[in-house]
Amino acid sequence: MKKAVLSGERRQDLDGKIVSLLFYEPSTRTRTSFQQAALKLGALTVATENAKEFSSAVKGETMKDTTRIMNAYHFDAVVIRSDYEGAAEEAAEVSNCPIINAGDGAGQHPTQSLLDIFTIYEHFGKVDGLTIAFVGDLKYGRTVRSLSYLLGKFKDIKVHLVAPESLQMKEDILEYYKENGIEFEIHSDIAEIVDKVDVIYMTRAQKERMKEGENADGAGVVLNRELLDQVKEGSIVMHPLPRSSDINEIPEELTDDPRMMIFKEAENGLFTRMALLKMLIIG
Ligand code: NCD
Repeated sequence: MKKAVLSGERRQDLDGKIVSLLFYEPSTRTRTSFQQAALKLGALTVATENAKEFSSAVKGETMKDTTRIMNAYHFDAVVIRSDYEGAAEEAAEVSNCPIINAGDGAGQHPTQSLLDIFTIYEHFGKVDGLTIAFVGDLKYGRTVRSLSYLLGKFKDIKVHLVAPESLQMKEDILEYYKENGIEFEIHSDIAEIVDKVDVIYMTRAQKERMKEGENADGAGVVLNRELLDQVKEGSIVMHPLPRSSDINEIPEELTDDPRMMIFKEAENGLFTRMALLKMLIIG
């Protein structure tokens, strides 16, 4: 898919197919890249942004009923971003076409992990044996939770979890690490691990999901030039974006550093979502 896009090839794999995009939570990258992915493959899309307000959710309709409606209109796939954990699963239980989870509250964001793994694989030529630091809000950030699951499919992975105590990775993922042979360590300051890892995966404080007493002041989870200059040769920095402009976990002045993969990740999101749509809709 990457080759096709870069060479300007006009693919028609999904000619005549129509994809529904139902977004109940804000999104820039995920929504636009899914829509663009469908268009690049010759499919059409019907997109509902702000579905919390502009769909019958406002009248109390359940995810299952909304999905039944999408099925009644014969969509070929439905991409759902919702504000609660398990929403895509509910939809999938009743759907007769593929449901893609584009983020479900503080639960999971599996398509982000596909593009993250692709970005890691492209850079290192492998995933096995790598050491990855997850930095920031690991409690509410869904991207690190999904990437943890995918990393469990590879060998000899080590994870450093860097977060304020109130925002550390939840027990379900720690259990998953144990069951899947992922070694992990807990930290509260990025300075402790910056020179020990292959990938520094930064995240945004998910303030919209936080409760009182949860620490989002950024202490220990912000990158700067001094820290970046300590990384091992060949190491990379990732972030699912958006980065926040108040905590400033990756300051603007580091944007063009060659170790920054953040916009490459976003671009890879287009290619991986094209591949995913094709695989799910026509095989
Ligand atoms: C992430 C998300 O929505 O979970 N964004 C994205 O899809 N690239 C990360 C975030 O919102 O912090």
